[in-house]
Order: sequence, then C-alpha cells, then structure tokens
Amino acid sequence: MASITSVRLARLLGSWRHGGPAYAELAERLRLLSVDGRLPDRTRLPAERDLALTLGLSRTTVAAAYGRLRDLGALTSVRGSGSYVVLPGGPALPAPDASGILDLTKAAMPAAGVVEECYGRAAAQIGAELGGSGYELLGLPRLRVAVAEHFTRRGAATDPEQVLITTGVQHGLSLIARALVAPGDRAAVEQPTYPHAMDTLLAAKARLVGIPVSPGGWDLEAAEEAFAAASPTVAYVMPDFQNPTGASLAPEGRERLARLAERHGTLLVADETTALLDIRRGPLAPLAAWSPTSVTLGGLSKLAWGGLRIGWIRAPRSVLARLAQARPALDLGTPVFEQLVAAELLAREDLLVAERRTRLAAGLDTLTGALAEGFPEWRFTQPDGGMAVWADCSPLSSSRLVVAAHARGVALTAGPRFGFDGAFEHRLRLPFTASPEELADAVAALRAASTSRSAGPADAPLITV
Ligand SMILES: Cc1ncc(COP(=O)(O)O)c(C=O)c1O
Repeated sequence: MASITSVRLARLLGSWRHGGPAYAELAERLRLLSVDGRLPDRTRLPAERDLALTLGLSRTTVAAAYGRLRDLGALTSVRGSGSYVVLPGGPALPAPDASGILDLTKAAMPAAGVVEECYGRAAAQIGAELGGSGYELLGLPRLRVAVAEHFTRRGAATDPEQVLITTGVQHGLSLIARALVAPGDRAAVEQPTYPHAMDTLLAAKARLVGIPVSPGGWDLEAAEEAFAAASPTVAYVMPDFQNPTGASLAPEGRERLARLAERHGTLLVADETTALLDIRRGPLAPLAAWSPTSVTLGGLSKLAWGGLRIGWIRAPRSVLARLAQARPALDLGTPVFEQLVAAELLAREDLLVAERRTRLAAGLDTLTGALAEGFPEWRFTQPDGGMAVWADCSPLSSSRLVVAAHARGVALTAGPRFGFDGAFEHRLRLPFTASPEELADAVAALRAASTSRSAGPADAPLITV
C-alpha cells in the first residue's frame, strides 16, 4: 500500500488555512485530496507527530483532524500500522453519469451527430471481419491507413506502419509509460497538465519535472533549464489547446522544443486529444512535423465520442515495435467493431470539426459572458479552442470553492489536481463542453458557492477528463 511523507503531504496540502479552526480545515483539505484522487484510496498518512512538526501545528490539532476524518468514515487507523485514507462510503466507484449532479469534472461532450450513422455503417461491414481471428494487436489495417492519412493531411507524412490503434488515448499513454519509462526515470510534464498523465507516469515510478505553461503559452526558458538539470527520459506535452490552459504552442515553439528534446535525448510524447477542437486558431501541423522521432497520441474521444474508446499512437517504427511487444501484457487489441466505426468517422473529419466548433464556440461565449458578469474580479484568457477556461479565481481558494459548489449540485475539479505539490490553488478549470443552459446554471451555482461557507465534498471519487 502507498504511503506519503509529511513533507510531500504538506506540499499537496498547499495553502489550506482560511481562518477557521485548524483541525477542521486540515480535515476538509485531506478529504478533498482523497476524493479528487491526489491521495489515492488506502494511502497511509504520516504519523500525527511527523505531520504536526512539518506543518508547525500541535499534535493535538493533527489528532483532532484525523479524528474528524475517522468520524466521517474517511480515515481508518490500524493499531501498529498507521492511518489510511479511505473513500467515504466504502467502495471506490466513481459516480455514474446520471447522479443528479452537473458534472464539470469531465471536459467531454455527447456524441457528435454523425456518430450514430457511422455505427450503422460499421454494422453493415462487421460480417466481413468475422472470418478472421479478431486479434489485431496493431489495429485494423483499414483504420491504420485512415489514421496515417489523417496525419499526412495535417502536415506530418505518415506510413500506416507507424500507427498502432489503442483503446482510447489514456490506454496509449499507459502503454507508452509501461514500455518506455523505467522506475526512477525523469519525466517532464507541463505544469499544469492532464491529471491522469501525471498519475500514469507516477504509476510507472517516474520522477516528474515541470515545464511551466499558462494561457499565455509555454515558458521555454524554464523548460531549457529543467531539461539541462534533469535530462528527462520523456516529455509529455499537449501542443494544441493544452488541457487545462487552452494554450497552443506556436511553430517557433514547436521547433525549439523539438531541438531541446533532441539535444537531451528526450523522447517527446505529444498528446493530440484536443488538437482538432479549434474555434478560431486555424490549423497547425503536428509536433511530429518538427520532431520525426517523437511519439504522438491521438483519438476520437473529444472529436466524436468518449464512449467509442478509440485512440492511436504514431511513432517511428522502432518505437512502435517496442510498444507492440509490450502490449500483450496489457491487452490483446482494440474491439474490431469500434475500429470500423472510427474509420467511418475519420472519413468525416471535416464534418466533426465543424460540428464541435459550433458547440464549443457557443459554450465558450456563454461561459465567459456569465463569468464576466458573476465574477468580474476573476481573470482569464479566452482560449482559441479546446474545452476549458483556466480561470484565476483569486483571492478565492479553488479547493474550497469546489467543495461548496458540490453542495449546490455542480462538480468541478480544483486547480491543484492539475499540478503537483499543491500549486494552482487559485486556479479553476471550467470546461465549456456542457450546453449553454447548463453552463449558465453552473456559474450561478458557483456564485452562490463563493459566498457560502463550505460543505463536505462528494463521497464518490471524481474522474477528471
Ligand atoms: C489531454 C487528454 N489526454 C487524454 C485523455 C483521455 O482520452 P481518452 O478518452 O481517449 O482515453 C483526455 C481526456 O480528457 C485528455 O484531456
């Protein structure tokens, strides 16, 4: 079972004091860390004495905080072994979609209009596949061709042999971490970044190094320093409509990052999950056009539908061979039917891009309009695309706001979930993927939450996508 040191926990806690009783505020923040996944279920907390010393508190205060968590069923103590966080309510299953909560922890949209038709077309084709074994470790040849064409069209010439089909982008990321990252390796990630990428790299026992990014763009000077100090084995980046900042890396930045990685022998892993969610930026060639040795992750979860679970990896052949070799320990291929649907969808890429643009532009307009009215003191940059606004909600604490908003029927992810070491306490990711009505309701609920004292967080774990 995992444990956490008092120093690391102190970093995760960030700025948690807000003028109330210390034991209650400490308990509340620990509970949020557990619910949003920063403290995985069954993590052993530091001994009361250690944590008290690190936080500059009395042991009685920490004991009272742990006691409160025990009363809430959020902590269990085993004599002689320590105290472990547990998700309240026992089984750690995420809340189902229809739990009556407006779930803005997921930046995701309902299926695009053309998806159902493509399922129908695939149904007419599946018969022809049934004579084969169905085990396609690399993916259905027809889909590999369609994905290669997708890259070539966008400016990175690609051969189908450079493509491996995965069961969503997250699966591709797990495969990359398993095959290409060894325990103790340094892995550079943007700060802030997509939380499950951090989780995946940490699960592979990588040590994370930050590349600062904000809605204004990447701090490539800092990246140069970080690479020089750590020579990371891999660098995971989102060059297009970065999640959560919405920033895009300009062509000169792509060139600079590619050369930086080359100098340090770092494998660049570009996640293009959000690359085609363009509202008003215009197309940019994939990072792979500047860095032929890089690996690219992509998929249809945001462009078409998350329920399809189709993604892909584009990589140099030698890297792809390593990934193919490592895959059977994880799974033996992606469902054939969904691959047929995906090939149909990729033939309609322009239609999908246009549909998403219309929906996202309307969501962005509503959200930023409501925010400007409800929170004139918040600062944010209008992204050119992507799925979310990364708002600066100073002086409010985003962790507290998230707790209070949940009590008003809106689930959001607090800023620190996108960083490591407790950063981003004054940042809130606000997805604009929901309908305009839902977004207006969400901002109204946030407004009410911002003037209230907080209530307890959700009992079910939150999955941030
Ligand atoms: C940047 C990024 N990568 C990967 C994923 C997961 O994608 P998939 O649903 O294809 O596994 C998400 C989902 O939100 C994401 O935002």
